[in-house]
Amino acid sequence: MAPEVAAAPSNAPANAPQPLLDWVSGVAGLTQPDQIYWCDGSEAERDRLQQLAVNAGTLIKLNPELRPNCFLARSDPKDVARVEASTYICSAKEEDAGPTNNWADPTEMRGKLAGVFAGSMRGRTMYVIPFSMGPVDSPLARLGIEITDSPYVVLNMRIMTRMGSAALDRIAAGYYWVPAVHSVGYPLIDAEGNSRPDVAWPCNDTKYITHFPETREIWSYGSGYGGNALLGKKCYALRIASVIARDEGWLAEHMLILKITSPKGKEFHLSAAFPSACGKTNLAMLRPTIPGWKVETVGDDIAWMRPGNDGRLYAINPERGFFGVAPGTGENTNPTALHALGHDVIFTNVALTDNGDIWWEGMTDEAPAHLIDWQGNDWTPASGTPAAHPNGRFTVTADQAESISPDWEEPAGVPIDVILFGGRRASNVPLISESYSWEHGVFVGATVSSEQTAAAEGTVGELRRDPFAMLPFCGYNMADYWAHWLKLGEKLGEGAPRIFQVNWFRKGPDGKFLWPGFGDNARPIEWALHRVAGEVGAVDAISGRLPRSGDLNLAGLEISKDELEALFALDPEAWTVEADLTAEYFAKFGDKLPVELADQLTELRERIDRVKAANS
Ligand code: GTP
Ligand code: SPV
Ligand code: MN
Repeated sequence: MAPEVAAAPSNAPANAPQPLLDWVSGVAGLTQPDQIYWCDGSEAERDRLQQLAVNAGTLIKLNPELRPNCFLARSDPKDVARVEASTYICSAKEEDAGPTNNWADPTEMRGKLAGVFAGSMRGRTMYVIPFSMGPVDSPLARLGIEITDSPYVVLNMRIMTRMGSAALDRIAAGYYWVPAVHSVGYPLIDAEGNSRPDVAWPCNDTKYITHFPETREIWSYGSGYGGNALLGKKCYALRIASVIARDEGWLAEHMLILKITSPKGKEFHLSAAFPSACGKTNLAMLRPTIPGWKVETVGDDIAWMRPGNDGRLYAINPERGFFGVAPGTGENTNPTALHALGHDVIFTNVALTDNGDIWWEGMTDEAPAHLIDWQGNDWTPASGTPAAHPNGRFTVTADQAESISPDWEEPAGVPIDVILFGGRRASNVPLISESYSWEHGVFVGATVSSEQTAAAEGTVGELRRDPFAMLPFCGYNMADYWAHWLKLGEKLGEGAPRIFQVNWFRKGPDGKFLWPGFGDNARPIEWALHRVAGEVGAVDAISGRLPRSGDLNLAGLEISKDELEALFALDPEAWTVEADLTAEYFAKFGDKLPVELADQLTELRERIDRVKAANS
């Protein structure tokens, strides 16, 4: 494309290569910013942008004695989470997006985007952010450039990615990079030249979060929040990266990564896929309640995993920070996260205390007598509304967590021993269950259902399929993605990680969680590691292999025999319903469904039938 000559002044670095300069001036020609600012990632730049965001009312500086260099942002109440209905995969063919994605014709979508982006940055500065997903020197890392008109996005990207000159140097050296364009869609000057004042959280009711898998491009319009706007995260590291990974033989996953050391000093690495706001950050920072075990954090949201020369699966965390759910983070649940939030944090949509600190539900047992809630209104415990938005978040660099693993930036990644799949299931799914094989593990991942959380717009609590916790994040046909997992398992063979399914969220008849969760999740994990080491037996059951009675370490835990039984109960009638629903679900994928998964469903039905026969 021949770019229009951008009149906007620019501080482009001397080593920015010509194709990048051309692309940037093309976007500027379309969006018409006042000026173009190339980010270097320095602290001085951060300080300037923080001041600018404070002056604009986007950030509120917190009490520097309580929270040095910390800020609070309050979003527009209509821009509080990912917008899945406005998120599109624009592959040339509809079947390449598959039945679980919103597909849009790429030509049509480009037309729409050209319309909304035209002049969308008038009166604003356009920021050019070079970034690396993964440690800059890692062979598993990948580069990108995000263009945005939001200083809030720049400040968050600086925490969440390796942003600035080092990434640009790699791009200048010729490494591949992904282009990503973001606008909040709130120009300050209209086509006729009329100005309007800015608002604290500019955004637009029209939203498009779009991905072009063939050309590996991202265009995002209308939202300033989280995964909609920090384009290195879900848009790149999951949707576009899953496509790159399919083509190159690796995996881009919605998974935490942790290192766990046994009382005997044996080290294991584990990755785990749970849907949004289902406990990845908590598990990544687990403090085991069983003595002698130690957990260290490698990543809390995304894993890029590749088979190594030794036949094992190696994982890196492509991110540099945590964009974690704030409500529910307290001394009893996740003290490690809480302690990481003492300085240099951006808080979004949480409550403000009278002394310039922050608060959210679950931070302390008792709420302060008075707060300013996430929407800027006076709040007291009698208000009857949440003080913090349920999807209120903190942005903080990973190295601020005291649990950070010494190998979290290891360029080669860490070897994965165990993969967990989980979700929020009030019934049916046991506390832990080991897959019979890699194929069975892929079946378990493919059939995950979970109750929806506030991390995306929609009906909270509604049970929905969320295969591999990737429903909103897979950049191509989900059935092809399952086939890719099966192929990778074949390649890994004996070196493949062992797969387990977990469920911390099973409820008793009183509606209360049966399992204490959090630090006690180390108990089922300990059992999984004993299985990996070949140290304990197991009982074959409908969902997989279960712990034998007495093998799950319950020392020091108050749990009744009935509760324990309820945690592992597998009702063959309820599982018949599960299997029928799975058959319906699989039918959506037509011919693309891998035969191995159809076979796994048959085997599941056979296991159910055997139990029914034994019971009758
Ligand atoms: P994203 O960042 O959205 O991808 O989510 P995440 O999986 O990192 O979510 P996070 O760890 O922040 O999950 C937070 C929610 O899970 C809070 O409501 C926690 O209280 C809840 N949670 C985490 N671990 C447990 C657990 O072991 N048991 C129970 N009952 N709840 C848990
Ligand atoms: C999720 O929703 O899974 C998140 C938060 O991790 S966001 O970055 O907004 O997607
Ligand atoms: Mn996530």
